[in-house]
Amino acid sequence: MGKLSSLIRAAGGKKRFNSAVILAAGSGTRMNDDRAKQFIEVRGLPIVVRSALAFEHSPEIHEIVVVTRAADVEGCTNILRSHGITKLTKVIAGGDTRQDSARLGFDAVNPACDFVAIHDAARCLITPDNIEAVMEAAYVSGAAACAGRVVDTIKKTNGANIITETIDRENTWLVQTPQVFMADMYRAAAYMAHKDHVTATDDCMLCERLGFRVQLVDTGRFNLKVTYPEDIFMAEMILDIREKMAERKGTL
Ligand code: CTP
Ligand code: MG
Repeated sequence: MGKLSSLIRAAGGKKRFNSAVILAAGSGTRMNDDRAKQFIEVRGLPIVVRSALAFEHSPEIHEIVVVTRAADVEGCTNILRSHGITKLTKVIAGGDTRQDSARLGFDAVNPACDFVAIHDAARCLITPDNIEAVMEAAYVSGAAACAGRVVDTIKKTNGANIITETIDRENTWLVQTPQVFMADMYRAAAYMAHKDHVTATDDCMLCERLGFRVQLVDTGRFNLKVTYPEDIFMAEMILDIREKMAERKGTL
C-alpha cells in the first residue's frame, strides 16, 4: 500500500471498499477476428484476464465486476475463475454502447463502495502500480484518470483536412483507463447523462459536464488500448520492453 493512501486511510478511520468495473462487452470490429477482442491472447493470456489480473494484484481494489456480451457471461466467468481472479463478484451482460456497459457495470458493484475504477478490458497492459497511482490521486481529488502526455503536435482540421488550429501541446493528454471516481459522484454523473441523453466516449466526460474536477495521472505510453490486429504484436513488444527495462534497472 502507498504511503499516501495509508495516511489518508488512517486519517479517515474507516477502511475503504473500492470496486473495479472491467468493460469487455464490445465486439472488436476493428480487430477483425473470429473471437471477440477481449478473448484474444497476448503472450498466452486472454486480454480480459490480463486486465483482471492487474486489479486482482492491486491492494487498493476489493471487488471486480466484469461486463461482457450476454452470450459470453458463462464462458468469461469460467476463464476468469480458472486464472485465479478471486476478487470477481459478478460477470454481467453489457449494453449496446460502452457508456451503457459502464452504467450497467456500476449498477452491479457493491452499493456501499467508496470508489469505482472503470477500465477498458482492451487496455490489458495496465499494471498494479498504475492502478495504485490513479487510486491515490482519486482519494485526494475525488476523481482521477490514467493518461499519457502528447508527444506530437496536435492539429485540428476542417472537413477537408486543412489545418484550422494548433493545440497547445504543453497541456494536452491522451486519456486512458482506469478512470476512478467517488461512487456518489459517478452515480450522479452517469444518471444525469442518461437522463439528458448525453453520449460520451469516456467516463471523465460525464463528470466534467457537471463541473467535477478530474485529476490526470501520467501513466506513460505503455497502457496501450488493443484495437487493431497489429496491436497484439505491439502489446507483446511492450511486455518485452518492460522486461528489458526491469533487467537494466537491476544492473544499475
Ligand atoms: N465495450 C463494452 N461495451 C460495448 C462496447 C465496448 O464493454 N458495448 C468495451 C470493449 O470491450 C473494450 C472497451 O469497452 O474493452 C473499449 O472499447 P473498444 O476498444 O472500442 O472495443 P470494441 O468496441 O470491442 O472494439 P471496436 O470499437 O473496434 O468494435
Ligand atoms: Mg468500440
